[in-house]
Amino acid sequence: MSTKHKIILDVDPGHDDAMAILLAYKSPAIDLLAITTVAGNQTLEKTTLNTRRVCTVAGITDVPIAAGCDRPLVRPQTIADDIHGESGLDGPRFPEPTVPLDPRHAVDLIIELLMKSDGDITLVPTGPLTNIAMAMRQEPRIIQKIKHISLMGGAYGFGNVTPSAEFNIYADAEAARIVFESGVPITMVGLDLTHQAVATPEVVERIRALNTPVSEMSVALLQFFASTYKKRQGFDAPPVHDPCAVAWVIDPAIMQTKHVRVDIEIHAEFSYGRTVCDLFGDSPRPANALVATKLDFGRFWGIMLDALKQYK
Ligand code: BDR
Ligand code: CA
Repeated sequence: MSTKHKIILDVDPGHDDAMAILLAYKSPAIDLLAITTVAGNQTLEKTTLNTRRVCTVAGITDVPIAAGCDRPLVRPQTIADDIHGESGLDGPRFPEPTVPLDPRHAVDLIIELLMKSDGDITLVPTGPLTNIAMAMRQEPRIIQKIKHISLMGGAYGFGNVTPSAEFNIYADAEAARIVFESGVPITMVGLDLTHQAVATPEVVERIRALNTPVSEMSVALLQFFASTYKKRQGFDAPPVHDPCAVAWVIDPAIMQTKHVRVDIEIHAEFSYGRTVCDLFGDSPRPANALVATKLDFGRFWGIMLDALKQYK
């Protein structure tokens, strides 16, 4: 019997989403059942094309890629081209993608995989939560079937798109609210954690030294990411958010977490999209998420490098 963790990765590539795909596919601890795409960092058309581009370079030909929702549930669409560029994945030069797109809608594929599962699939969303919320609304029986959701999103400290809100939650806060209120156990890997997962020059050199098409693509991605993070937010090295949510599935001990109540703000003028995290136990509402606080930096980049080394 396989002891691998079965996951569905829901992405909006996105430089760090690309790194999450690379980690998930080659980690020996993960069985990657599907990659689903959502509008987020860029339009759905672009995030889907980018997923196929990354999978083509990486030789990921045996995992279905399905496109999902092209806009948030309620609010107007917002993108992050200031960080990820016009294509959503600026930096590397990509060959024409050859991996096909699965004809199924991502929401249908998520439902299908969950309904025929033994309740052993973890969802790893690293973009806005539109597809996951839609799947929960379309087929509520999946809620009992989801083993866990390890998501990149939110913050108990500062936001990165407004002072209060992190991009993935802000981009579709109504969807986030559905997911956080679903009762499914959640690990919230937010900015407080991911800002510790920086790709320092030393890390980038270790990746470059692998000297493969995937390492070359990764270095180009991280260099572009470094330039926009420097310009936009003054970072000396870019935070590689999304693989952290995959890393929690691979090795939960890689980060410290706190089990608390997280509520999603959808009404406020200045804090729309905030993940209100009850770190001090003031809320009467039950805890619904493990909120990540501290990352083991060395171990994180260790598993990332181990995965990247598998690409020839
Ligand atoms: C999140 O927003 C996106 O820009 C990144 O891909 C990441 O998922 C960070 O706030
Ligand atoms: Ca993302």
